[in-house]
Amino acid sequence: MSKSWRFAGNEMKYIEEVLDNGFRAGADGAMTERVEALFAETFGQPFAIAFNSGTSTLHAALAAFGVGPGDEVIIPNLSPIMCGVTPVFCGATPVYADVGWDDFLLDPVDVRAKITEKTKAIMPVHLYGQVCDMDAIMALAKEFELKVIEDCAECFLGKDAKGRVGGTIGDAGSWSFEASKHLVAGEGGMITCQDENLAMEIRKFGGLGFANLTARSGKVRIDRDKFQNPDWQRHDRIGFNYRMSELTGAVALAQTERIVELVDLRIAAGNGYRELLARSELLRPQKLPAGEVNSCFTFAARFDGLEQDIAWDDFRMAFIKNGGDGIYACWQLIGDEPAMADKGIGWGETPVAKKLQRRIMQFTSNQRNAEERDVQQNALMQTLKEFGDTV
Ligand SMILES: Cc1ncc(COP(=O)(O)O)c(C=O)c1O
Repeated sequence: MSKSWRFAGNEMKYIEEVLDNGFRAGADGAMTERVEALFAETFGQPFAIAFNSGTSTLHAALAAFGVGPGDEVIIPNLSPIMCGVTPVFCGATPVYADVGWDDFLLDPVDVRAKITEKTKAIMPVHLYGQVCDMDAIMALAKEFELKVIEDCAECFLGKDAKGRVGGTIGDAGSWSFEASKHLVAGEGGMITCQDENLAMEIRKFGGLGFANLTARSGKVRIDRDKFQNPDWQRHDRIGFNYRMSELTGAVALAQTERIVELVDLRIAAGNGYRELLARSELLRPQKLPAGEVNSCFTFAARFDGLEQDIAWDDFRMAFIKNGGDGIYACWQLIGDEPAMADKGIGWGETPVAKKLQRRIMQFTSNQRNAEERDVQQNALMQTLKEFGDTV
């Protein structure tokens, strides 16, 4: 067993199994098949396909939707760059839509304003663990015949007010097992969907286009007589090698077995901060509509202290001095990153996102227990008091 509480489940056991079996990827009982099956069951989806990242999943979904040169994909500008570059990988243009001032999530009103004849898909991002307004987004998708890929890299078991789990509402859902996420396998991704043909196209796109891949199976060596025949034609699609490795699959499987425990820990941390900030004038938590579940990838809040001339970094340094982990800033808006801006990639003004980007503070939610959570909450309480806040 690992010495780290985060990997204290079956992670080591499954890693050993992979090594003992001599890497059976593509064969019966592979770890990647096991994690796919468990993930599909956990999210109540018929198809789950394991990938090597939560970026390659987005790329595969867009490609399988048929997104190509000349098309546009609407994404929130306030999001990490993976959401912007994946349309570019397809030869398409990212169109930057704005987000809500209070919930920081893709604004369906602005999405409507950004739809053109070239729009092919929308990528709602369930940022910081909270599900976007999927009713409004799905209504737009229906009206304009668009595909929807839900980016749930930061949202594991987050729910909307109807109790629907983020990632199960659009045409496909995408998750990441990168080192900071709810479930960690170092790197890795998962994509789910309900349409068998879409699942097969996604799997082939990420699996080198092997002809005998199916929606449910990543096995490539199914028939020895065929495989050892010089006439056997292996590939019927152009595809990338985006496959999850067996070792990653071992860790991802053990982590998925613990999904409820790991997500609940983050939610407990989020609830603690949320309670603490109930009367705060300086920090406004990401607004959570009644009945929704925010899975609290981090705990995000808007720092209104800027309006009172409190510098972002003064607040951050005081928090650290008081024993806090640190405060994570928001990324640059995707369209403002030099990689995009210098080449003029994408279009779309997003004034709310622009103002928010300077103000969003993320607090860590990956504490192990109440004792560790108390350290962070006490540090925040002390800091707010020092700046004259009502807590
Ligand atoms: C919102 C969001 N989308 C996509 C990704 C990409 O995931 P990965 O790092 O696994 O490629 C991440 C995280 O890194 C993310 O936070």
